[in-house]
Amino acid sequence: MKTKLYHGVAACILLLSLAVPTRAADTAPIIKPGAIWHDDRGEHINAHGGGILQVGGTWYWFGEYRPKDAVPGRRYVSCYSSVDLVHWTFRGLPIDMTAPEGIGPNWVLERPKVFHHAKTKKFVMYLHLDGPLDPREADPDKAYKLARVGVAVSDTVEGPYTYLRSFRPLGQESRDIGQFIDDDGSAYLIFESRPTKGFFIAKLSADYLDVAAQTAFIEAPIEGGALVHYDGLYYILGSALTGWAPNPNKYATAKELKGPWSEFKDIAPPETKTYGSQSTLLLKVVGTDKTTVIFMGDQWKPRAQWDSRYLWMPLEIGAGRLRLPEPREWTLDVKTGAAGLRP
Ligand code: GAL
Repeated sequence: MKTKLYHGVAACILLLSLAVPTRAADTAPIIKPGAIWHDDRGEHINAHGGGILQVGGTWYWFGEYRPKDAVPGRRYVSCYSSVDLVHWTFRGLPIDMTAPEGIGPNWVLERPKVFHHAKTKKFVMYLHLDGPLDPREADPDKAYKLARVGVAVSDTVEGPYTYLRSFRPLGQESRDIGQFIDDDGSAYLIFESRPTKGFFIAKLSADYLDVAAQTAFIEAPIEGGALVHYDGLYYILGSALTGWAPNPNKYATAKELKGPWSEFKDIAPPETKTYGSQSTLLLKVVGTDKTTVIFMGDQWKPRAQWDSRYLWMPLEIGAGRLRLPEPREWTLDVKTGAAGLRP
């Protein structure tokens, strides 16, 4: 009897601590994973490998802008804003530049992430900056040899941003980057480093213009790293190292950022390969009633990048478990924080 009662109470506590999306209200605007998402101009949102920064009641989405008619040698970051995370207004191209530091025309700018410094008021953008060791090299397979981060700053959120410099964070090779802002406002860069066979969580410097200190090194072949603090636990997830091709993304948990981190587990049935997507960010939406954690993933189309799609879904998360539900239409109320799955 006692055991039964105990199990009943334990099940209730587990259910209460799990964020599970409920049925959608009929009137709310709808998020359609994998569909074409139109901006205020009616154009497909072009912001891949993105990051999101919340400033007051507005979310700013920065991403790789990969237009069909890109000027050879130029690389771009786009910015969109939204007050409901469903309707997005194009705010321009905060970065529109040719290769810095003589990297050469066959260069790489990926996964922009923007931080806001509360004291200096600067907006600081981190980029994965790469290219061949020899700037004359034209072979695209050699375009990932520099393995650096670039830093750019602006006085306004939508820019334009002034490019400052590039470097290898903590002296390590760095390719995919992710961003994390903890509940106390501390800012971290997540970066994958092939030679060390893992990835780093590293604290930014006091002015955010540098990567100051290693918080954790997690020995796991994970990129597209994304991190969230939810109900007293840190959850980190990312993809395997298979380039543009999707793979089963995995997550681990820890009580403290520095670890120890648990083993990695699948976030979705592995045969779905994360429903054809790759992680880029975990976005926490804290409302009056609920907290929803959104998995933001890219469904890449390597030969038609301008047509790549976005898979955003509210996660089932809590008590050390995390699951990406099968994609379907859903709604989000940013005021209450409630996510609703459509029938
Ligand atoms: C992926 C990475 C992407 C891009 C791609 C190039 O592994 O997550 O951001 O770098 O490789 O093949």
